[in-house]
Amino acid sequence: MREISLFTPFSSRGATFANRIVVSPMCQYRALDGHVNAWHLAHHARFALGGVGGAVIEATAVERDGRISEGCLGLWNDAQIGGFRQLADLYHEHAIPLGVQIGHAGRKASSASPWDGAGALANETPPRGWPTLAPSALAHAEGWPIPAALDAAGIARIVASFAAAARRAVEAGLDFIELHGAHGYLLHEFLSPLANRRTDHYGGSFDNRARFALEAAQAIRAAVPDTVPVWYRASCVDESAGGVTLDETVELAGRLKAVGIDLVDCSSGGIRGPVARSTRAETPGHQVPFAGRIRRESGIATMAVGLITGAAQAERIIGEGSADLIAMGRELLADPNFVYRAARELGHPAAHEVLPRNIAFFLARRNIETPMQTPTHPAGAAAK
Ligand SMILES: Cc1cc2nc3c(=O)[nH]c(=O)nc-3n(C[C@H](O)[C@H](O)[C@H](O)COP(=O)(O)O)c2cc1C
Repeated sequence: MREISLFTPFSSRGATFANRIVVSPMCQYRALDGHVNAWHLAHHARFALGGVGGAVIEATAVERDGRISEGCLGLWNDAQIGGFRQLADLYHEHAIPLGVQIGHAGRKASSASPWDGAGALANETPPRGWPTLAPSALAHAEGWPIPAALDAAGIARIVASFAAAARRAVEAGLDFIELHGAHGYLLHEFLSPLANRRTDHYGGSFDNRARFALEAAQAIRAAVPDTVPVWYRASCVDESAGGVTLDETVELAGRLKAVGIDLVDCSSGGIRGPVARSTRAETPGHQVPFAGRIRRESGIATMAVGLITGAAQAERIIGEGSADLIAMGRELLADPNFVYRAARELGHPAAHEVLPRNIAFFLARRNIETPMQTPTHPAGAAAK
């Protein structure tokens, strides 16, 4: 029988993904002081029961002031570990690896949630929020607060905070770490000439602009066991002239690989424009070519993301070698059982088996489920 690429396993160090579909990190804006609560458990239960290959918990701050919004999760103190352990247990019951995206929001920190306009909290009446940090004292957008430019001690502190957050994630039982290097947050701000005007060895040349990301990557790699994969989400290109180019991201991916990063999650944009939304024109699979080129030229595993919504589309991306994994956000929000739907559409011989047994058992015995198969129970059995 023809192999379905989407349903072949994938391994990244000690983590094995039963299929190639991964829940993309998605901020929920529902945390209090960075703690996981019932909302996060319910949100993730939808996917854990839906047979995904893996999942990445939303952008989680490595320092309190590195939160995008007041409702963001955090791993800046030990008291936050317990909630993440509950999330890990939720997925592990179904043998699904779970990671967390750790990050620092830089000059885009201290902003309102999307449904409240995603503006700077400092501009509310009365002003709220907290002071922000960045490579240079340049506001994210007109009218936004001017962040403080980090000094060398501040950079070293944040690198250490990344390592400490990664250590807490491992203590919580999470299987992998994703470093948030995308979407105009702190690591991306250092990389992009549009936000970084420094004249020290963290600014100017590509080597200097990439230094912070590489230091954070190295510190995390050193902080977690060898069996724990460390991934990096990149904004592969900036949306504006003078910003990060795909050539630079290919180069960065090679250097990340050299310091022990295992996969690049290929997103884009965010250095300018609205905080919670990319201004890039979205067409189906618009970021897939980034994942393909980085995978080919840097020899690192990649994850493709962005308007991947169909089974055949996802299958093609994996089958043609553009990416090793597919991250899905909104389609999984729309249909947490997408993986099952995809299995059926692609002719998986036992589609129900992608779901937990408590669900699969009954679906396997439903006549309409796999019309191509002979029913496994005698006609009329359901009526008895
Ligand atoms: C509600 C929501 C929250 C998001 N939060 C994050 C986040 O925490 N970190 C991140 O890197 N991307 C975040 N994103 C972007 C998604 O991970 C994904 O890259 C994007 O939605 C494109 O994929 P899609 O077309 O499958 O939704 C978020 C997207 C949504 C819809």
